[in-house]
Amino acid sequence: MAKVAFIGLGVMGYPMAGHLVKHGHQVTVYNRTEAKAQAWAKEHGGNYQVTPRAAAEGQEFVFVCVGNDDDLRLVTLGDNGALAGMSAGSILVDHTTASADVAREIAAVAQSLSIGFMDAPVSGGQAGAENGVLTVMVGGEQSIFDSAKPIIDAYARCVELLGEVGAGQLTKMVNQICIAGVVQGLAEGLHFARSAGLDGEKVVEVISKGAAQSWQMENRYQTMWQGEYNLGFAVDWMRKDLGIALTEARRNGSHLPLTALVDQFYSEVQAIGGARWDTSSLLAKLEKNRG
Ligand SMILES: NC(=O)c1ccc[n+]([C@@H]2O[C@H](COP(=O)([O-])OP(=O)(O)OC[C@H]3O[C@@H](n4cnc5c(N)ncnc54)[C@H](OP(=O)(O)O)[C@@H]3O)[C@@H](O)[C@H]2O)c1
Repeated sequence: MAKVAFIGLGVMGYPMAGHLVKHGHQVTVYNRTEAKAQAWAKEHGGNYQVTPRAAAEGQEFVFVCVGNDDDLRLVTLGDNGALAGMSAGSILVDHTTASADVAREIAAVAQSLSIGFMDAPVSGGQAGAENGVLTVMVGGEQSIFDSAKPIIDAYARCVELLGEVGAGQLTKMVNQICIAGVVQGLAEGLHFARSAGLDGEKVVEVISKGAAQSWQMENRYQTMWQGEYNLGFAVDWMRKDLGIALTEARRNGSHLPLTALVDQFYSEVQAIGGARWDTSSLLAKLEKNRG
């Protein structure tokens, strides 16, 4: 069993840190909003600290799951960042969905301190975190991966090393690119079904048995049909992720016309008040445009 810290107790981090306790690890948490760290410590019986540095001191592994690149820099680099508290030989694992650039930047600082680093963004949503069945896409060295994987197994059902530092984030970009087009397709299908006077739920029960089936269809069609958009992964986060992917695409020369278009559709969802709605809310925009 390991001594670990978990930094960032959001929708994802809170249950992930809880699974580490359930698997017998000794867990110390940090969260910017202290009340959440207190609530977590009360619920799970772990410790909490008031800076990332204090939480990271003396730990074998430090896990991070915060919002974006800047948040990640804040909690890992600098005087009160996790790296300042970590010892040589320990390992920092980042679960934030961030850029491959920031992963390389943090890896370089970690290496200068003889600390291991891997980028390890996750997929599976709030339910995946709560049920401990996330997919984890890792970039880093094999030996670091081999040490950290048994700990990550506490909240994941698939943990794979995809290449050097940054490869985890690049893989997550592929994941988000694939999701963007699928959600827009599903939203258009349901929108069309309503316009055609069909029973959308019945339609999906049939077509999901065939080639149109997808995770989004299986898990979101009922709530979309009912206009409920409070299922976890927020539009604001999706725009962050698509922005990261589009920036990377400009650099590596790939053409992502559909991703760019869906990113624009999400900006329209934000404009109608849907910044914190979940990503299936592309349908809300279509329904609003119906007039
Ligand atoms: N939700 C999902 O379904 C999902 C799925 C896959 C991947 N992700 C990714 O996982 C990451 C976390 O997502 P989430 O849904 O857990 O987000 P969230 O609920 O908004 O939580 C964000 C966490 O980061 C902390 N944080 C944000 N900015 C910070 C800063 N500047 N300094 C210190 N702490 C900061 C927040 O602290 P406070 O409590 O103080 O705000 C909170 O603990 C994101 O990168 C997201 O894209 C999310």
